[in-house]
Amino acid sequence: MLELDGKRCRELYSAAKIADRVAELGREITRDFSGRGRDLVLVGVMKGSVIFLSDLCRQVNLPLTLDLIGIASYGDETRSSGVVKVTADLSHPIEGKHVVVVEDIIDTGLTAEYLLENLRTRNPASVKLCALLHKPSRAKTEVPIDYLGFTIPDEFVVGYGLDHAQRYRNLPYIGVVEPSAPSEPDGA
Ligand code: IMP
Repeated sequence: MLELDGKRCRELYSAAKIADRVAELGREITRDFSGRGRDLVLVGVMKGSVIFLSDLCRQVNLPLTLDLIGIASYGDETRSSGVVKVTADLSHPIEGKHVVVVEDIIDTGLTAEYLLENLRTRNPASVKLCALLHKPSRAKTEVPIDYLGFTIPDEFVVGYGLDHAQRYRNLPYIGVVEPSAPSEPDGA
């Protein structure tokens, strides 16, 4: 158990375990897109996927380009509402390209569903979804995940790009911040 800002953080996946899994995902993407020309684009969804994206792209042994898209979901800090908008668009058109969307986590699936639909209207050659984490117990819609790192239980996770109120993204591991224990009454 680690200590974060006086809160207890239980490690779910160590940096080493994440690195091994990211390397495997990179090999899968390399295998699937070999021989498809020079038109592979990895699209990271800001901000949560940027650390995953930077590690993943170095494990793909093919020519590729990188782009980023910013998405805002109207909800509270920990729950997505499914009402989504693009806050920062791609820098280049994806028409005719093979796109792999790189997401940090698929929770309800509503954000990814919206994003995939949006990207498909731009006439790419193909669109695949790569997610580091998936919480199937919270799914509100079925989004096929083509490349998946880990399936996790319904717990709010932070680290390796994932935040809580914009913090903890820089943790090298993925952990669960435990609720604070009620303080002991005086004299107990
Ligand atoms: P969805 O639309 O419910 O699938 O929400 C996806 C987005 O919610 C992710 O890209 C994250 O930004 C955020 N999110 C969902 N669960 C977690 C979590 O456990 N930790 C941090 N962010 C999360």
